[in-house]
Amino acid sequence: MNIEEVRMSLVNDLEKVNDLKELNDLKVEYLGKKGKITELNQMIKDVPNEEKKEFGQKVNEIRTMFNDIYEEKRQAFEAAILNEKLAKEAIDISLPSKKVKRGSKHPMTRITEEFEDLFVSMGYTVYEGPEIESDENCFQKLNLPKGHPARDAQDTFYLKDEYENFLLRSQTSTAQVRVMEENTEKGPIRVVCPGKVYRRDEDATHSHQFMQIEGLVIDENVSMADLKGTLELFCKKILGEKTKVRFRPSFFPFTEPSVEVDVTCFKCGGKGCPLCKQTGWIEVLGAGMVHPNVLEMSGYDSTKYQGFAFGTGMDRFAMFKYGIPDIRTIYGNDIRFIEQFDKKDGE
Ligand code: PHE
Repeated sequence: MNIEEVRMSLVNDLEKVNDLKELNDLKVEYLGKKGKITELNQMIKDVPNEEKKEFGQKVNEIRTMFNDIYEEKRQAFEAAILNEKLAKEAIDISLPSKKVKRGSKHPMTRITEEFEDLFVSMGYTVYEGPEIESDENCFQKLNLPKGHPARDAQDTFYLKDEYENFLLRSQTSTAQVRVMEENTEKGPIRVVCPGKVYRRDEDATHSHQFMQIEGLVIDENVSMADLKGTLELFCKKILGEKTKVRFRPSFFPFTEPSVEVDVTCFKCGGKGCPLCKQTGWIEVLGAGMVHPNVLEMSGYDSTKYQGFAFGTGMDRFAMFKYGIPDIRTIYGNDIRFIEQFDKKDGE
């Protein structure tokens, strides 16, 4: 083939190419070891001297021409392949997405957080003690020595054998002891202790496992007035500003004097209904001034310090707040129950 023939066939061949493969085959055909352009190149040495330069230039032109067209075509084919791929893999972003299922907080988690937020806003810290406790912390250091009759009301679950001295705490008051003992400086305390407690109880309003929150404030010059103010504020904040609070004298071995606190019935507002047994009031809290014996047993000087303490069942508050009729559903672990609280706090 002479130069002109190669030029013609090259243009023709490149024109007809359908895809990348054919294009690359052509490259071999023209520029490969035995390619048409390669052959022309080899012919240069046989051309008479005076024509060499011109011939050589022409061969170069043809090679450049081939390469230019080849490059153009290659880019066009690759772009087409990419476009086709993109079209195939296109995602329709207007399609509705799959709903992501969010877990919901257990009502007791919600109420615990509400209590904690309230007390933290009043300068309290949060302390959580263990559920397995010693007899000392649960009873003895709270002024309930072995054999004390007030232990009966808080019968609980006891451990066996070498752990005989341990039990599942029947009240968060045990945390009072821990907080006082852990405070090595024996200085002021302002703490709330939420957590699970256990008793031998089981009916619609009592469960063998429930949740309390304990409050303990120790300082110089703490009085019953501080206790009353704090509890009144806390009942109103959690149950609503209209709630009335009533203090009744009571007895707890670890507080003196002791009170029980009633609030106006959340259901009837104080008129009287089956929930409040027609009295208009519902008992929600035990409280009192920390007994000097309790202060002394945990290393506090009772002539210098006074304190007040209170304890309340948080399940009660959750039941009223969320309209839960049976406490046992709180611990039944039925997801359909828990899911109902998704939107209850205005989320
Ligand atoms: N621990 C008491 C109970 O469970 C409540 C209480 C706490 C009373 C603190 C007085 C002071 O019944």
